[in-house]
Amino acid sequence: MNQDELKKAAAHAALDYVEDGMIVGVGTGSTVNHFIDGLADMRGRIAGAVSSSDASARRLEGYGIPLIDLNGVTELQLYVDGADEIDGGFAMIKGGGGALTREKIVAAVAERFVCICDQSKLVSCLGAFPLPVEVIPMARAYVERRLARIGGRPVLREGFVTDNGNLILDVHGLRIPEPQALETEINQITGVVTNGLFALRGADLLLLATPTGVERRVA
Ligand code: A5P
Repeated sequence: MNQDELKKAAAHAALDYVEDGMIVGVGTGSTVNHFIDGLADMRGRIAGAVSSSDASARRLEGYGIPLIDLNGVTELQLYVDGADEIDGGFAMIKGGGGALTREKIVAAVAERFVCICDQSKLVSCLGAFPLPVEVIPMARAYVERRLARIGGRPVLREGFVTDNGNLILDVHGLRIPEPQALETEINQITGVVTNGLFALRGADLLLLATPTGVERRVA
């Protein structure tokens, strides 16, 4: 199986957690795209989807899946999303697609976060994947200096603007044995909207695709 086939296997395993009448929280990325494709076959049975990005919203709309405004939702049982890295405690680096802020918002509301990954995403320590940080444009240089002070090498994602109109700094060179502490520290820098560490609210269930099948690991 190649990596895309593994992503598809993990994504389709997540369909088992979708129940009739549900509003489904939908993440962003190439793994989630497979999940949306599978969700299309269930569109008559679900109430709709809350999307974490314009890209996922367009894909959902293309299948005729109703989009639901998160502000009108009091209970969201399920959020399904991928990750760029996930550790043994189910803390993640996300935001490779730049959708980290909306992903974090939908994940915060959801009762259950199901992470769908191919096996390459599971790591013993987070940080090899550059950590995305969403920044208000006028604060970019200041935030770069602060990130350098904590040991990272921030690189502006050239030509990229988030769905919220902001910039992304990808922070290289970090080793993150304590993701909750670093998530908090970076979020306290003025001008940071949020960072791509999902540790304070990590995943509840990991569906990890391997060549021999999809492993279901509970936090
Ligand atoms: C999007 O901003 C990200 O958080 C994605 O969930 C993450 O990058 C995983 O993407 P892939 O499924 O494309 O690997």
